[in-house]
Amino acid sequence: MAEGLKARFGPISSFYAAMKPPSRIFRGYHDLEKISFALPTLTEYQVLACSDQDVKAVCESSERTLSFHAAMTDRLKHKYTMFGFEHNDVDPHNAVPARTLRILLKKHLPALRPIIEARVREGFEKELCKISKDSNGWSSVSAFGLSKRITERVNSQIFLGTELANASDFMISAIRYSHDAIVAAEICRQLPSILTPIVAPAIMRWSGAMKAVAASIKKVVEQKLHEIDSESSSIPEHTEMDCLQWVIESSRTKAQKTIDRLVQQVGAVFFAAAHQMPMALVYALYSMCDHPEYVELLRSEAKQYMDSDIGDSFKHMHLLDAFLRESARLNPLDALSIQRKVLEPLSLPSGGLIPDGNLIAVPQQAILRNSDLYPNPECFNAYRYFPVSVQAHPERAQMKTQFTDVSRAYSYWGSTRKPCPGRWYVSETLKVALVHLLMNYDFKLEDEEASRSFFWTTAIVPRLRTKIVMRKRETSE
Ligand code: HEM
Repeated sequence: MAEGLKARFGPISSFYAAMKPPSRIFRGYHDLEKISFALPTLTEYQVLACSDQDVKAVCESSERTLSFHAAMTDRLKHKYTMFGFEHNDVDPHNAVPARTLRILLKKHLPALRPIIEARVREGFEKELCKISKDSNGWSSVSAFGLSKRITERVNSQIFLGTELANASDFMISAIRYSHDAIVAAEICRQLPSILTPIVAPAIMRWSGAMKAVAASIKKVVEQKLHEIDSESSSIPEHTEMDCLQWVIESSRTKAQKTIDRLVQQVGAVFFAAAHQMPMALVYALYSMCDHPEYVELLRSEAKQYMDSDIGDSFKHMHLLDAFLRESARLNPLDALSIQRKVLEPLSLPSGGLIPDGNLIAVPQQAILRNSDLYPNPECFNAYRYFPVSVQAHPERAQMKTQFTDVSRAYSYWGSTRKPCPGRWYVSETLKVALVHLLMNYDFKLEDEEASRSFFWTTAIVPRLRTKIVMRKRETSE
């Protein structure tokens, strides 16, 4: 393990190991006054880079020294949970998803907005029409369940196209698949790695959802390739805007263009979205229920810009953007971010030497509540992202910081060197969903005391049973 770190923090590490991982990471960060420290796990040490100089070193290190892909392979067990997908020489720098998401998906977002809006509307309507209303018109619904159904609809449309987004049996399999994949990955993370090739496939085979999803994606990939072939090897003009199309377009080499690899690549991107987006949406929804003082302000901001002739209305909705950033600050999806496997021994600027084979990460949940970076950190204050001079009139302001901005103090989206390429899509979809909710429904928590989330290793997972009640607004739009 990390020579210097173990010597200094061994006994403390053992103490914190007895607590739940996010709590002990949080306590470790604050008790040790932001000095990097290490925690033992079953198979390795987990080093938490806490000081700004150590975080900077982790952010800026190369894939050769600190590997994101190796850390994700260990954590997600892609080969078994994502249709056989592996990070390998076929696309060593992840150029295909990077181009698909960071360039093509981002570029098409303005054109995709009406399509996302239609799927969001449909998601709310279909989910709520199944549920009976009380005498005052309120329907009670699982907040996380609703978030899953909505994001799954949007994701299926944007990643896989209209045919699969309209297929209800596919949607059921897709939701089950992403659940199976997380369960398999997290269970295997607790077991010796020698058991992964047995346990992970067994879990994935149990419901058959991954097989069904792969077969559906394969069918659409084959159709697309056939269309391209029959239109003289170029991408036909009339084809839909979806990531499946862009993955094909971004796959340049023979190995990248095999049907199996295309299915794996599309499936992996679809999984990245399916797992995290409903979590982010449900936490934003809870933030609105917990801070009703923002609801009318957000409604009037949305009303002001939605139908006006000012181009991209979201560019003007500064409060909504800041609200999402603040909700994410207080509700990260995992206690850790920027997780890397140490492939070559690493000396931290603060002094510890970390041997290869260990894991290093940034304790984002603790950093996002550091009072030096965020004054009064426990307080939900969306205005903290506006320049002080304009906090009273945010509508006149250019934002100081945006939801999608990445920094060492805000590693929700990962490292400054290689942040999440899906973040603009996440921001767009969450905004569409929240504006729809604000303009069309009144909503509140069914039980304000209900527990919202639980810890699973370092992940902070929303509880499915926590409910909100919703009622159509009389003046809905
Ligand atoms: C709230 C939702 C999301 C959060 C919080 C999130 C966060 C992250 C983080 C922390 C990383 C690792 C970056 C690093 O370690 O430096 C990452 C990577 C990645 N994310 Fe996201 N993500 C989200 C949604 C999405 C979506 C919807 C997509 C697909 C459209 C996506 C695609 C990816 C990909 C492909 C990578 C790997 C990038 C690479 O290999 O360099 N993410 N994301």
